[in-house]
Amino acid sequence: MKEKLQRMKEEALKQIHSSDKLEKLNEVKVNFLGKKGELTAVLKGMKDVAPEDRPKVGQMVNDVRAELEKVLEDAKKKMERFLREEQMKREEIDVTLPAKKNKVGHRHPNTIALEEVERIFVGMGYEVVEGPEVELDYYNFEALNIPAEHPAKDEQDTFFIGKDILLRTQTSPVQVREMEKGKLPIRMIAPGRVFRSDEVDATHSPSFHQIEGLVIDKDITFGDLKGTLAEFAKELFGENTKVKFRPHHFPFTEPSAEVDVTCFKCGGKGCRFCKGSGWIEILGCGMVHPKVLKMSGIDPEEYAGFAFGVGLERIALLKYEIDDMRLLYENDIRFLKQF
Ligand code: DAH
Repeated sequence: MKEKLQRMKEEALKQIHSSDKLEKLNEVKVNFLGKKGELTAVLKGMKDVAPEDRPKVGQMVNDVRAELEKVLEDAKKKMERFLREEQMKREEIDVTLPAKKNKVGHRHPNTIALEEVERIFVGMGYEVVEGPEVELDYYNFEALNIPAEHPAKDEQDTFFIGKDILLRTQTSPVQVREMEKGKLPIRMIAPGRVFRSDEVDATHSPSFHQIEGLVIDKDITFGDLKGTLAEFAKELFGENTKVKFRPHHFPFTEPSAEVDVTCFKCGGKGCRFCKGSGWIEILGCGMVHPKVLKMSGIDPEEYAGFAFGVGLERIALLKYEIDDMRLLYENDIRFLKQF
């Protein structure tokens, strides 16, 4: 009996040590220790053992069982550890690999330029207001001293919704809308989209943007206008920028001027960027025409004001040295993300 148990144990140990899978270990366990296992069979055969030998044989069987259980358990633990380590090696993460970059959106050059202009004027105490893109003929033309047969209407041909309703050609009607509110003084800028029936080319588009400016108060002079725009130009294009006012004509201002700034590329010496002149035109402006004030219910004897209009695209093109306006509208990510 003793030898039989010994052989059985050795056989079991051999099988345990040659197991290379958890399933095999389990098989060994079932085969030897299970209900129908070999060791259990020995116990069942106890009835054939002489009664005086039974306690001794029983003890031997229990010892073998305990030993096998322990060896099996150790082997199982060792194998599990080994398998886990193998798995970790397979799933190793290289923390030195460069991370994947998420693509983040980007502000449009027009938006960047607008925010810059707004920052400058808000810093001077201006309010930012808006007006409608679909506008009455009255606000877009009539109230700005551009009556029905005025030649200025030809220059600003636009898209008509009806006889008296159109897509605004300029942001100047917002001046009238603000003045009509009757709350004085006024210090506002009004950015927004405007429309003209222009063919698309490098400097024209049927839809573009302007920023209107208007100041109305007592004792406002052309000197205030000059000082304001000189400061604006410096903030936008650099401390050394100078401004030049050239006499011009707009129906709603008197006197009127166009404003040039010294070329920020060459500092005024003349280069390809400013076409050799040293100056770059940036906006139109003037003192609000007394007739315009009167039409909006403001007494020109008591109040005066100045106005100006800037092309937003023009500012963006100049600031970022873009030579074709069409690039601003093509929405090519490769172009847009440069700014
Ligand atoms: N509205 C004018 C245009 O589109 C620009 C302009 C000129 C606006 C003079 C003004 C101004 O407010 O005073 O051509």
